Order: sequence, then structure tokens, then C-alpha cells
Amino acid sequence: MTSSSAKWEVRAELPIHYEIEETLDLLSVDNPTLLGSVDRAGTGATQLVLVDTTIDRLYGDRLRAYLEYHRVRYHLMPLPSAEEQKTIDLVLAVASAMNEVKAFRVRNPPIAIGGGVMLDIVGLAASLYRRGIPYIRVPTTLLGLVDVSVAAKTGVNFEGFRNRLGSYSPPLRTLIDRSFLATLPRRQLRNGMGEIFKMALIKDVRLFGLLERYGAALIEGRFQDAAPPGGTAAGGGPPARVGSNVADEVIGRAIQGMVEELQPNLWEKKLERSVDYGHSFSPLLEMRALPELYHGEAVALDCVFSAFLAEHRGFLEPEDVHRVVACARSLGLPVWHPLFCDPDALGEALADTVRHRNGDQNLPVMAAIGSARFLNDVTPAEIEAAAAAMAELAPVGAR
Ligand SMILES: NC(=O)c1ccc[n+]([C@@H]2O[C@H](COP(=O)([O-])OP(=O)(O)OC[C@H]3O[C@@H](n4cnc5c(N)ncnc54)[C@H](O)[C@@H]3O)[C@@H](O)[C@H]2O)c1
Ligand SMILES: [Zn+2]
Repeated sequence: MTSSSAKWEVRAELPIHYEIEETLDLLSVDNPTLLGSVDRAGTGATQLVLVDTTIDRLYGDRLRAYLEYHRVRYHLMPLPSAEEQKTIDLVLAVASAMNEVKAFRVRNPPIAIGGGVMLDIVGLAASLYRRGIPYIRVPTTLLGLVDVSVAAKTGVNFEGFRNRLGSYSPPLRTLIDRSFLATLPRRQLRNGMGEIFKMALIKDVRLFGLLERYGAALIEGRFQDAAPPGGTAAGGGPPARVGSNVADEVIGRAIQGMVEELQPNLWEKKLERSVDYGHSFSPLLEMRALPELYHGEAVALDCVFSAFLAEHRGFLEPEDVHRVVACARSLGLPVWHPLFCDPDALGEALADTVRHRNGDQNLPVMAAIGSARFLNDVTPAEIEAAAAAMAELAPVGAR
């Protein structure tokens, strides 16, 4: 009797390259950026354009005029942007539209324009269609500009779990145009600021100074003013470079920080991720607080809570924590919430995150304003102490 013991191994590497490109006034007919990767030479193909329903309402006429001016034969498909509709059904609807337009495999990448919800839906559809086709992403929320823009991830919610079905499939290009922010509601701007705030705390002290000084004015002006006059110093950060455009610098530094952090760990094989700052306790508590807290608000609460943990360890001075809290307040972000004062809820939230991080805490905390380190031995007593410190921030009536 012989038994076969043959074994084959396949090893391959996939080079990844994608671009995040800034432009201004993308829908102006003399701006060619939007169609930069679309090959229209003689194919007669129909270009699929997917838009967030709100974007369709606010910018649909300009978008259609743009496509018509450039003689693009297009099919425009509006998609809802509600988190509750971030489902596999919509992914299949997008795939059907891809079939309908008889898209070429690479020549006519679908273009998706909208908030993070619909970009994640379209990204997943593109990653499944013909086992993966390129697509172009145009984020129109602040969170989309600074966070979704760099990530390689797509996903939809499934059976009550956030982003439970998804893929790592970056778009060919992401186009960043802050002029879309002119119509974004202020609470959505603050929501995006939550992620910029996080990036400043763990990586970029200059960005923190810009937020302290100009953050509130940027939100007030919806990132449209070239240089908000005076700023609103919460702690007196360094002045912006003379003649620099503060809105561009804040968005640019946030994107640059994400690029530096994600590029070496795009598939998240390494579970020590400083960009997870603000995302250790918040995921579970945010879901519990739904629909009260937006994602960026929950992230800001986690940032403040984790700053208390760092102070308890002696990494931060009380004055640093004071600056962190004052800056969050100046951005209109919450600094207190009952769930973040509840040691049991916080302990449960951390336990869930530890499962996600494969059994270790890998807890990013601030080592100073603008830098991070990791902890793996945070105790229930420390969580209780930080929760008590957070409770001190409660408005008088809520204590
Ligand atoms: N792929 C990733 O790595 C990644 C990263 C971060 C977040 N996300 C996902 O992004 C989603 C959150 O994205 P979001 O914060 O952009 O929310 P969103 O997509 O729900 O958009 C927020 C609201 O703003 C509206 N809107 C969008 N652009 C507008 C504009 N210019 N003017 C006026 N209204 C506008 C939308 O219609 C929606 O009502 C979550 O589902 C999250 O999981 C994904
Ligand atoms: Zn986040």
C-alpha cells in the first residue's frame, strides 16, 4: 500500500497602489479630475455613477450637467445613506446596475459619490463583481474625507453587527473636494472632527494646536474659508504658517497621518494600531447609545476617557488632560456620557475589543499630546478611576 504525500504551495504577492487626490470644485465643468480614470475612447460604454440620495438632491443637477457637458453616456443610481440600510441587499442592487450598464472590466470604473455608508456599499459591490473591479470614490462628508478616504476597507452591516461582511479592496482613486462640506450639517462636521481630534492626540501635536486655535472657526465656516480670522484659542497652539490655508492643512495633515499609519499595516495583520485610539471602549458603547451618539462623538468620548487612563499612569500631566478636554469642548464634541462613567459597561466594552484584538488589550493611549504607546495590563481599578474622573465632567444636573 502506498499513500500519496504530495503537497503544493502557492505564494504570490499583490502590489497595492491607489491614490488620494485633492481637488477643488470637482463638479465645475472645466475640472477634468472626475473623469481622469475613465476611458471613453470609442467604447460607447455607459458610465455608472452612484450617488448618495442627499448628494443627488443637492448636487444632482450639477453632476448631470457636468457629465452631459463632457458627453458621457451615464447611468446615475441614487443610493440611501442611512446606516440601517447598509445591507447586502443594496450591494446586490449595485451589482445588478453593473450588469445593466454592461461595464467593461477595467475601462469604466464605477464612480461613487457620497458619505461613508454608500461608499462602503459600492466598494463591497465592486470587490465582488467579476471578483473585483476598480472603482473611484468621492467622499462628501468630513469623516469620509479624512478617514474613509485612506482606508482599503469596504463593508455592510449584517445580523446586527457593524461591517460584519466586507473586504479589503481599495479604490483606484479617491478624490478629495472639501467644497462638498459647504452643505454638510454642522453636527456631521463635528462628527468628522472626532476622527481628526483622535489623529492629533496620538500623532500630530501641530494638528492639535491647529484644532485648539481654529477648530471651532473651521466648523463654523464649514471648512470653506481660506483662513478663519483669529481662531478660537482653547489652549493657544502654534500659529498657522503665514499665508497657509488652514482648512487644507487640517484635512491634509489628518489624511497624511492616516496614510502613514495604514500603509505599513493595510490588512491589519498587526493588531497594535495607534489609529485605534478612541476605538477601544467606544464601539460597544456607541451601539448601546444608538441613535444618540454619532461615531465621531463616541470616538471623542473614548479619547477623553483614555486620556484619564494615561494621566493615571503618569504619562500625561493634569494640564495636558485639561487641554484635551477644552479642545474637545471647543469642537462641540461631548466630553461626558453616563456610559463612559459606568465601570461595568466600560469593562464589557473592553472585553469585546480584546476579542477583536485576538486576546490582547493592545490599548493605544497617549504618551504625550501627539504621541501614543500601548498598554496590555489595564486593570478594572484603573477603569474605575478613569470613570470617576470622567464623572467629574458631568454637567451639574446630571451628577
Ligand atoms: N471603509 C472604512 O474604512 C470606513 C472608515 C470610517 C467609516 N466608515 C463607515 O462610514 C460610515 C459613516 O460615514 P459618514 O460619517 O460619512 O456617514 P453617512 O454616509 O451616513 O453620511 C452622513 C449624512 O450626511 C449626508 N451627506 C453626505 N454628504 C453630504 C454633503 N456634502 N452635504 C450634505 N449632506 C451630506 C448623508 O446623506 C447622510 O445623511 C459608517 O457606516 C462607517 O462604518 C468606513
Ligand atoms: Zn472611527
